[in-house]
Amino acid sequence: MIFLWGRPSPSALRPLRAEAAPECARIHASGFAYPWSESELENLISDPSALGSAALDPANAKLRGFVLSRLASDEAEILTIAVDPALRKAGVGRDLLRAHLAEVAAAGAARIFLEVDEHNAAALALYARFGFAKVGARRGYYKQPDGKTASALVMRRDLT
Ligand SMILES: CC(C)(COP(=O)(O)OP(=O)(O)OC[C@H]1O[C@@H](n2cnc3c(N)ncnc32)[C@H](O)[C@@H]1OP(=O)(O)O)[C@@H](O)C(=O)NCCC(=O)NCCS
Repeated sequence: MIFLWGRPSPSALRPLRAEAAPECARIHASGFAYPWSESELENLISDPSALGSAALDPANAKLRGFVLSRLASDEAEILTIAVDPALRKAGVGRDLLRAHLAEVAAAGAARIFLEVDEHNAAALALYARFGFAKVGARRGYYKQPDGKTASALVMRRDLT
C-alpha cells in the first residue's frame, strides 16, 4: 500500500464479489458488536437483490472497505458499510459510498434508506457528507453486549 502525505493511495472501486466474504467478515468484525459470519456475508453478497461495492488497495487488491445494499422496486437500503480500522478517517468510506450511490442509482433506485446508531459519530459524519436526512428513529433498536441500548436513526437520501 502506498501512502502519500499520510493518506492511502486512491482506492480501486469495484463490484463486491462473494469471494471477498472472508475479508468482509474480518472488517465487519472490527466495526460491529455483533459481526456477520463469512457465510452470512457470502449469502448476502450473492443475493440477486443485493448490490455491493468494494474499495480495494490498487497495489494488491486487498479489501479496504465494502458496502452492501438491498434493492426492492425503486428503493434501496444500505445493509452495512465498513472500512478496515487501519485505514479509517482517510477518505476510503467517502470514496466507497460515492461510487456505491452512483451504482445503486444506475440500478434503478430513486431513494436509499439506512439505519445508524445515534452515537456512531463516524457514520453520522459520513452520511451527513452525502446529504442523508433523518426521517425517523427506532428507540432501543441496538442492544450492546453490556445490556445498554441505543436508538437507530432512520435516514434517507434521494438518488434522482
Ligand atoms: C463509518 C465508516 C465506514 C467511515 O469510514 P471512513 O473511511 O473512516 O470515513 P472517511 O474517512 O471517508 O470520512 C468520512 C467523513 O466522516 C468523518 N469521520 C470519519 N471518522 C470519524 C469519526 N470517528 N468521528 C467523526 N467524524 C468522522 C470524516 O472527517 C469525513 O468527514 P468530511 O467528509 O466532512 O471530511 C468507518 O468509520 C467504519 O467502518 N466504522 C465501523 C463500521 C460502522 O460503524 N459502519 C456504519 C454503520 S451505520
